[in-house]
Amino acid sequence: MKDDSELAPRALAPIIGTTPGELARAASVILAGGLVAVPTETVYGLAADATNGAAVASIYTAKGRPSFNPLICHVADLAMAEAFAEFSPLARRLAERFWPGPLTLVLPRRASCPVSELATAGLPSIALRSPKHEATLGLIRLVGRPIAAPSANPSEQLSPTTAAHVAAGLGRRIDLIIDGGACPAGVESTIIAPGEDAAVMLRPGALARAEIELLTGPLGAPEAASGILAPGMLKRHYAPRAHLRLDATSVSGGEAFLAFGAPPEGVAPSLNLSPRGDLAEAAANLFAMLRALDESHDSIAVAPIPESGLGEAINDRLRRGAALSLQDGVRQIR
Ligand code: TXA
Ligand code: MG
Repeated sequence: MKDDSELAPRALAPIIGTTPGELARAASVILAGGLVAVPTETVYGLAADATNGAAVASIYTAKGRPSFNPLICHVADLAMAEAFAEFSPLARRLAERFWPGPLTLVLPRRASCPVSELATAGLPSIALRSPKHEATLGLIRLVGRPIAAPSANPSEQLSPTTAAHVAAGLGRRIDLIIDGGACPAGVESTIIAPGEDAAVMLRPGALARAEIELLTGPLGAPEAASGILAPGMLKRHYAPRAHLRLDATSVSGGEAFLAFGAPPEGVAPSLNLSPRGDLAEAAANLFAMLRALDESHDSIAVAPIPESGLGEAINDRLRRGAALSLQDGVRQIR
């Protein structure tokens, strides 16, 4: 993996819109092996042709991401996905119910799958999802190939939910940014590994556990999946520069307070994830608000978030962000 010093200084990537002509331009950049940041309903992705090993390698370089951490391949629909992976009846039902949408399926890779081994980190499985964003679905159809896309942020940092966030983090390391507006969900997709009759949740995300369990029954924890790992579930992840203090019911000098619902007596929130206590609204605001408070504070106290519904994904991201900021050397990461 190259570090910053080995990357030649580059111009800031152009930010374009989502007209047919602009999407055609983005498709030609991807087909030529370039990197394009794309909007999805969850977070912005950093897209490349998943079948082009050199292009996939440049995703890892641009993000500073360890290459043992595989990428999600984005497809237009189930028909396209079936060419790359083996779908059990349960996997097919999940895709039919939730695609396009914030559900990633980890499935056995077909022998004929043309996706670069680098994208799947040499694993026998492949992570697939069809994103619910018209521009990016249109782009995948124009490209006619799966696009590999991790979140469009430098490794370990906060995920981007606007084109401006992408430009601030990776603007000089990539070729093009498509501005498709703010991401409505705001946290990454839920990752599921469906087995023969039961399924395992590898990462909580924008599709709540309860919705999936209507189809799968109770979801197992990652430990229950023999041999299936989400290598990217590193403890150090999604981290602001500032120290994060979770489940805070008071605020001390110098700290920012990120509220959820009604703030505690006498505490003036710096920002509020959702004044009406709505978890979907809080998820949509999470990364942008952490980013804003990170600009002005060295320490952020975050109110307790209920673990129900999308709270599971919000708390997962907060705990990983806090784990990093408690460790030595954190401040070098930026
Ligand atoms: O919402 C999302 O999922 C966003 C948007 C851009 O689609 N993408 C995203 O990608 O969050 P990324 O690379 O930040 O996270 C992908 C996760 C990692 O935890 C990785 O380890 C896991 O998916 N993953 C990928 N392929 C896998 C596989 N074959 N088996 C298990 N886990 C896998
Ligand atoms: Mg990520």
